[in-house]
Parts: sequence; structure tokens; C-alpha cells
Amino acid sequence: MDRFKPYRDQLDALENAGRKRRLSVQAGRDFSSNDYLGLACSPFLQAVAQKAIANGIAHGSGGSRLLGGNHPEHEALEAFAATHYGAEAGLFFGSGFAANSALFATVPQSGDLVLHDTLVHASVHDGMRLGRAEFRAFRHNDCNDLEQKIQNWRAGSGTGTIWIAVESLYSMDGDRAPLADLARIADAHDAMLVVDEAHAVGVFGDRGTGLATALGRQDNVLILRTCGKALGGEGGLLTMPALLRDFFINRARPFIFSTAPSPLTAHLAHQAIIHVADNPALQDGMADHIALARSCFSGLNLGEGQDSQIFPIIIGDDRIAVTMATLLQGRGFDVRAIRPPTVSPGTARLRISLTLNVTADDILRLSTALREALTVAEAA
Ligand SMILES: Cc1ncc(COP(=O)(O)O)c(C=O)c1O
Repeated sequence: MDRFKPYRDQLDALENAGRKRRLSVQAGRDFSSNDYLGLACSPFLQAVAQKAIANGIAHGSGGSRLLGGNHPEHEALEAFAATHYGAEAGLFFGSGFAANSALFATVPQSGDLVLHDTLVHASVHDGMRLGRAEFRAFRHNDCNDLEQKIQNWRAGSGTGTIWIAVESLYSMDGDRAPLADLARIADAHDAMLVVDEAHAVGVFGDRGTGLATALGRQDNVLILRTCGKALGGEGGLLTMPALLRDFFINRARPFIFSTAPSPLTAHLAHQAIIHVADNPALQDGMADHIALARSCFSGLNLGEGQDSQIFPIIIGDDRIAVTMATLLQGRGFDVRAIRPPTVSPGTARLRISLTLNVTADDILRLSTALREALTVAEAA
């Protein structure tokens, strides 16, 4: 018996469909990472890490937060985040994925309904599947569809709490959620709003606090800010009402039954948030890159999002997208093709991500190389 046949068959099917993924180490000018502000390998965070280690901050937590793994660095980060982001409380997880999946698996209760934008991240989907609440999708950024689905559910048997799950800036499309309208809908229907700021924190909002901070509220809003993208480290920081933080600590299995994130990681996240807040030049540099890319990339099929650091160049065909990425990599640009199932079938794309790891000249050169690669790949 060939025990590995099911796996080989699935991998072969992916290969035949042009969708088999392979790992490759970052090489070339960075147009693919989420290290938007160039902090991941920055002298600033390196110095913070060196000083922290010299001062005895632990690099391992030693256990779950409830069993010896709770360190002053976790508590300091969470208290600071609550104040800085204008919330009652904060809770730090080892990754944004863990935070999102813990949230949706734990907090919405049996009898509740989660209404999520069709494009929310895989971590929300995994959490919902583990959770007890019903869940349904509403059309991407479509508030009318959302309200209709709320009304339908209420008109039927739905009496529990409604949870609305969105991203403030969508990771594969670079477009923004209509947060003010979503907050109004949440208010009108006594619903909770959960905003994933993974791609907005650090880059947008007052002192890099993200796009949802402008809502200026906290009673029915939970926000996830991840620390592995613009903040140059790793981890997921949830801000929320204090009661819910208490509930997480008592009920969220990924929080209870997992080794706490490293205190060093928590300290780095804390310092990165302060650094971003104190250095508006980082946000200004990103705004300049975005304006330049918007003008250089015009004429390419950019989809909805042209107002952020994420520029999707929609190609459609998986193989053309992969050929283009390979051509661009050969010319020294780290550009990756994004294919289904990460994006919908027929919308394979190059996800150009702007970071402060590149210069204006790199963006200009990429713009020329993109057009040349498109011509070659379409003819191949
Ligand atoms: C929108 C969104 N949410 C959550 C996550 C997960 O965050 P992390 O990478 O910290 O696990 C990601 C990661 O790509 C993301 O894009």
C-alpha cells in the first residue's frame, strides 16, 4: 500500500494546475514582504534587542501566561497598547493568526452570528470553524449586503449577538473597509465590530495607530494589530473591553494551553510601536512611495486598491502570473505571484508591496520591468 498516495496526488494536481507552492529565500529588491517600514532588520530594533538581552530580558517565556510564563514585558506591552490605542485592555498573542483564530473560536457564543467580509483572512475562517456561533459571508465592502443579512437573520430566529468581521486594509487587494459605515451599522444593530488592522497598523492613522483608531470608541469594537508586518517583529495584539480580556484569559484555548510569546518579542513590539509613533518620517516616506507607485503603475490592471502600500496587479491566468514573477525575480526584483486559493479563481496577481527597504529609483525600475515582463509572459 502506498501510504503517501493521497498526498502525492494532491501535490501533482497542484503542479498540473500551476498552483504548487515552493519556499524561496528572500532575494532581490523587496517588493513582496510586509516589512512595510523597513524595521525588521533595522539598526533601531537590533539595538533594542541587544540592550534587552544585556539587561537580562528573557528570550524564552518558560510557559503559558497562566503557568509561570507571564513576564513584566507582556504586562507592560498590553498596558501601553491599551492606553496608546485608546482601548480598555490589550492582550498579546504569539501571532496574529493565533489571536484571530482564538478570538473567533472563543468569544462569539452559541446563538450568535458572525458576519464576515468575503475577503477576511484565513485565521478568521479557522477560528469560526472552531467556534460555536453561526457564520455567514457578506459581499466584499458591501454595507447594504451586510445590513440585509443582519435583517434577514433577525427576521428569522436570530436573537444572539451579531459580530461583524472585517480588515481595515485588505491584504491581497490593498483596498480599505468603509469603517465609519460599518461602525454605524454595528451601533444600529447592537452588534460588535472586529477590525483586523494587520496591514494598516504602523502605516496609517495618527502616529501609526491604524485606521480604526479614528472611530474613537471601544465599547463594541475589538481590534487586532499584528506586530509582524510594519512593526518589524512578530505577535498579535488585541485591544478590547477589559471584560473580554478576562474572558480570553479564562476561556481561549490558544492562550491558555500554549507557551507565551517570548518576553523579548513583547519588548520589541512595545519599542517598535513607540518608535513608529515618534517618527512620522516613516509614514511620510511610505506616503511618498505610494504616490510614486500610483503614478508609475497607472495603465496596469490595479484593481480597487491604489491608496495603500499594497498594489495588486491583476493578471488573471495563474501561469502568466508565475512566469512574470520568475522574470522579475531574474532581474533582481523580489516579486511574488499570488494564486488561488489565496485569491479567487481567475484573479491571480502580482502583489506588489511597497516597503521602505526600496528606493524611489527601485519603484521606477520595477514599473518598466513589469510592463516588459507582462509582454514576454503573455507571448510565452
Ligand atoms: C489580514 C491578516 N490578518 C492576520 C494575519 C496573521 O498575522 P500573523 O502573520 O501575525 O500571524 C495576516 C497575515 O498575513 C493577515 O494578512
